[in-house]
Amino acid sequence: MTAEAAQDDVLVSVEGVVKYFPIKQGIVFKKEVARVHAVDGVDLKVRRGETLGIVGESGCGKSTLARCVTGLYPVTAGRITYDGEDITGFSRSRMKAFRRDVQMIFQDPYGSLNPRRRVGSIIGDPFAIHNIADGADRKKRVQELMELVGLNPEHYNRFPAEFSGGQRQRIGVARALALKPKLIVCDEPVSALDVSIQAQVINLLKDLQDELGLTYVFIAHDLSVVRHVSDRIAVMYLGKVAELADAPALYEQPRHPYSAALLSAASIADPDEAERAERIILIGDVPSPIDPPSGCRFHPRCPKAQERCVAEEPALVVRDGDAADHLTACHFPVEPGDDLTRAHAGISQESTAPALPEATT
Ligand SMILES: Nc1ncnc2c1ncn2[C@@H]1O[C@H](COP(=O)(O)OP(=O)(O)OP(=O)(O)O)[C@@H](O)[C@H]1O
Ligand code: SF4
Ligand SMILES: [Mg+2]
Repeated sequence: MTAEAAQDDVLVSVEGVVKYFPIKQGIVFKKEVARVHAVDGVDLKVRRGETLGIVGESGCGKSTLARCVTGLYPVTAGRITYDGEDITGFSRSRMKAFRRDVQMIFQDPYGSLNPRRRVGSIIGDPFAIHNIADGADRKKRVQELMELVGLNPEHYNRFPAEFSGGQRQRIGVARALALKPKLIVCDEPVSALDVSIQAQVINLLKDLQDELGLTYVFIAHDLSVVRHVSDRIAVMYLGKVAELADAPALYEQPRHPYSAALLSAASIADPDEAERAERIILIGDVPSPIDPPSGCRFHPRCPKAQERCVAEEPALVVRDGDAADHLTACHFPVEPGDDLTRAHAGISQESTAPALPEATT
């Protein structure tokens, strides 16, 4: 593929994106006392028609990154391009068109639906906001959407409480599809659902992707959920991308010790067992994003950590022997036969960050 063709292939480009949340103290004159480093220098490309999975523990910055990509949060530094254009430079009308093209589906299918409004009117919201159709035309379009996502169109006048969890997530999907988007950012769309329902919603999203040519960014806590939907996967740790690879490559030979830890937990069916397995490798809690560890942020928990890891931040690059699109931010990538379950040698750095008193966007 030529460089130009490769560029055409990219729908969204995230370049050096940083998002900090200031922490302010003081009653009258609020003074910035610290910053939450929620996203701290992320480079990613989302290709047309693909599903890019983003995984990582709670608080690693997945949702913040998603909100930056969809234009809901301004970035602190770096830039995001959509179809080759920098989204921060968008005029009002261009931003309106962008908001039609890029939609989000959220984790909590109930919390994101107003319980006092009828489902038909909720799904029709995007038409109302963008002044697209009204009256009988809007109702017809909403009912078509309900049918598309596997809901009974005759349930148009029901309230969200009259639907099951899986059906409520279908309502969220229908609303996201109303304006014929190109990109849907799914922020943990199945995490709140029973395991039996998760597969149904994932299958629905996959079918819709095939039918409508959608591009997805699919966020999840663990690798088992993104396994069957993602073409490529980015593993995030404390605001940074630790590893980025084609899904099969990541599952077969994870190169970052953190990916290997997540994978070892994800491959065990019993959740209690999985949690124990994860703890073998992931010693200690995630450090504070207010004062991230020096060098490689994973070093206080990494079984392969050496002195270099404390001093020098590893770049996200192709490591020896890996495919050209397999990037790993690690000085000492995992090799076949490495035993990551051995006790950690004890390189650690306690975070001295203050508690979070108050934060603003
Ligand atoms: N509006 C905000 N103000 C201050 N801090 C925030 C804000 N939103 C997120 N954060 C902080 O930024 C960090 C990243 O949060 P984010 O919600 O992006 O993580 P996440 O990976 O989506 O986590 P989860 O898996 O729990 O959804 C966390 O430390 C969080 O507390
Ligand atoms: S750079 Fe060092 S601490 Fe970081 S993941 Fe690699 S081996 Fe572990
Ligand atoms: Mg989140």
